Amino acid sequence: MTEAADIETDALSALAPAGREAFAQARAGGKRPLDALGSVAARDLPLKDPVFAEVERAGPPALTPPDGFATLVLIAKLTRHCNLRCTYCNDWREGPGQQMTPRTQVLMLRRAAEDARAATLKFVWHGGEPSLLGVRRTLGFLWLQARLRRPGQMVRNSLQTNGVGLTDEMIALWKLFGVRASVSLDGPREMHDRTRRTVADTPSFDAAADGIGRLKAAGLFAGALVVVTEEIAALDPLYLVDALEAAGVDAAAFLPVRPSSADGSGPCLAPEAFARFLVRLLDALRAHPDRRLAVRELDALHAAYQGTGTGFCELRGPCLGDYFGVDPDGQVMHCDKFLGSDAHVLGTLAERSFAEMRASTEMRALKDRYRAAQTRLAACKWFGRCKGWCPHEAHIADLRGTAGGCCGLAEVFAHFARLEADARREAAHA
Ligand SMILES: C[S@@+](CC[C@H](N)C(=O)[O-])C[C@H]1O[C@@H](n2cnc3c(N)ncnc32)[C@H](O)[C@@H]1O
Ligand code: SF4
Ligand code: SF4
Repeated sequence: MTEAADIETDALSALAPAGREAFAQARAGGKRPLDALGSVAARDLPLKDPVFAEVERAGPPALTPPDGFATLVLIAKLTRHCNLRCTYCNDWREGPGQQMTPRTQVLMLRRAAEDARAATLKFVWHGGEPSLLGVRRTLGFLWLQARLRRPGQMVRNSLQTNGVGLTDEMIALWKLFGVRASVSLDGPREMHDRTRRTVADTPSFDAAADGIGRLKAAGLFAGALVVVTEEIAALDPLYLVDALEAAGVDAAAFLPVRPSSADGSGPCLAPEAFARFLVRLLDALRAHPDRRLAVRELDALHAAYQGTGTGFCELRGPCLGDYFGVDPDGQVMHCDKFLGSDAHVLGTLAERSFAEMRASTEMRALKDRYRAAQTRLAACKWFGRCKGWCPHEAHIADLRGTAGGCCGLAEVFAHFARLEADARREAAHA
């Protein structure tokens, strides 16, 4: 899949011939892929839901360009259906009503476009398994984005996938529209195949590694997502690094395994254990500079230690009001991580705009909780660097009765300080 023309043919094969022609003409006229897709008539889409024709009849939104520079991040559960049954996961669902309908997608996109301060809309396609949307529904969602965004509003898409069973057409479609993908891979095969099994209870490591290889070949691979269970944390970090590199992974993000946000039950790696894991990983990588694995958390924590921007929500401080999790039924919460926590539900897309959610009593209550957690953590000497870490960590600590005066990351910053002092001493003696 190297030729641009082949990619377009594969990606757009689901459109009617007139739709492909309209797309090609718009591209030849210099339009970007998303705008070119917006040139396709609703009748030429592969989807017959009447909402597409309704959107076409309504015409472009009567909105002015954004009046701010904010980024609105929507972590959208376009489907909760999944082909895996990972042992720690609370996110998948079965049965009807677990896929976002085109009508709810329209509502979500109209609400996003209404958000006048948002110069950029970032959609993180989450789930469930977003690749199960298939080519037709993915094209439909992208078409709606093209038709409904505010004039001048940028739209970005990325997704998280288990990498299992990706079709060439789906990868071509993501490639054409610049949708980069992170793939979940729990380290070495024996660990991955214990935690990440298919619906049929078969292992998924080979399929995920194959997905990584194909996404890399398409230039879409954004890195692996590794859930750090107690078992992963106990591994020799070099063994873990080598296993990831053998699977073709050159960049990874590590997520401590988290329990239910409703009641704190289920597997949980304590923040301090996660910090110790990161320190051991850092030392292993420093001792073996030939290993080329980039680790999102180590890079971001080091940038935070140095007081520079991290580009990572978990270390930026307040995130309330900028990141929303959207469920298939249109229910909105603060960040998808809080699925199951009633306190983090901010209403539905039908009831409220994002601006109204930001101004809601529910949001005020969350901000009060956030401030209380920040006050508790501010005594830690590293607070200026971690900014309290992710509020979800504070939520889990509250539920499990483990909230203390540190978010749990102190050991990582203390380690950076030790390394810096060692380097200064060595330089002084050189
Ligand atoms: C819920 S999945 C959805 C996307 C896709 N199905 C996948 O597995 O990548 C998003 C990420 O959350 C991770 N995850 C799921 N349950 C978790 C938990 N209890 N603690 C930490 N991460 C978890 C998954 O491993 C995956 O990397
Ligand atoms: S593949 Fe993703 S959504 Fe599916 S069960 Fe695993 S972590 Fe959950
Ligand atoms: S709750 Fe955590 S993961 Fe979610 S947006 Fe905030 S910092 Fe990021």
